[in-house]
Amino acid sequence: MAVLLGGLSAEREVSLSSGRECAAALRDEGFDVVEIDAGADLCGMLQAAAPDVVFNALHGRWGEDGCVQGLLEWLRIPYTHSGVLASALAMDKTRSKEIFVRAGLPVKDSVLAAKTEVEAGHVMQPPYVVKPYNEGSSVGVYLVHEAANGPPKLVETMPETVMVEAFAPGRELTTTVMGDRALGVTDIITDGWYDYDAKYAAGGSRHEVPANIPQEITDACLDYAVRAHDVLGCRGVSRTDFRWDDTRGLDGLFLLETNTQPGMTPTSLAPEQAALNGISFGAFVRWMVEDASC
Ligand code: DAL
Ligand code: MG
Repeated sequence: MAVLLGGLSAEREVSLSSGRECAAALRDEGFDVVEIDAGADLCGMLQAAAPDVVFNALHGRWGEDGCVQGLLEWLRIPYTHSGVLASALAMDKTRSKEIFVRAGLPVKDSVLAAKTEVEAGHVMQPPYVVKPYNEGSSVGVYLVHEAANGPPKLVETMPETVMVEAFAPGRELTTTVMGDRALGVTDIITDGWYDYDAKYAAGGSRHEVPANIPQEITDACLDYAVRAHDVLGCRGVSRTDFRWDDTRGLDGLFLLETNTQPGMTPTSLAPEQAALNGISFGAFVRWMVEDASC
């Protein structure tokens, strides 16, 4: 089998880490594994390797948004995780949000705005968050606390159009879905913002799993995550992220996004939730391979 890792997105380093972990675990499970760093020559490399199945450990643009999935469909190679359409919908935060709203799932209001407009003045009443609508791992995410702070100056790498979303205060919760089953709720505890460093530096955040939250909130997260996975048409494993204001009960719970290629690094959340259910890392990746299709 081939493990696709690295790739061209801003989450390249995260994917290298996810991919190496998965490749090592798959070898331990007895698979014959070749690691392919997904670059411009990916099509030729796949044709040369001719794997029976692809384990997709890519994150972000081109690897998580339906592009690589389309290539694998074209080459008729079964692959793990979601297919073309679900990947594309989940990666576009505005499109997935429209689908979540229609399904009755709670999300915060947001607008798409030109980068220049966002830098010129407050596009909405603070507090709000500015983020690329098509990246992961909190790359290029800005939190504007109050009007007095002024509008943010965005990094050059931000796309010309960005998403501005009303800030959901509170705790960061997350739920992994494996097939038709939600694996649990993790409360992600950080000193400040759950940014790139908090996500991937050892000790950058503490994960309380299962989360010490009311049963009603746990049940809602499990239900919403499975419904989000289903309405987007996801396959295999996905992970849905939430924010919860614990002063407002169920009314304070908002769905942020569904990740179709959740991180599989040593600090990642999905494998921890699998372990809580007695599913080892090896069994988790084996299940994904057995679930692969095209
Ligand atoms: N985008 C990162 C990899 C995650 O959701 O885990
Ligand atoms: Mg994400």
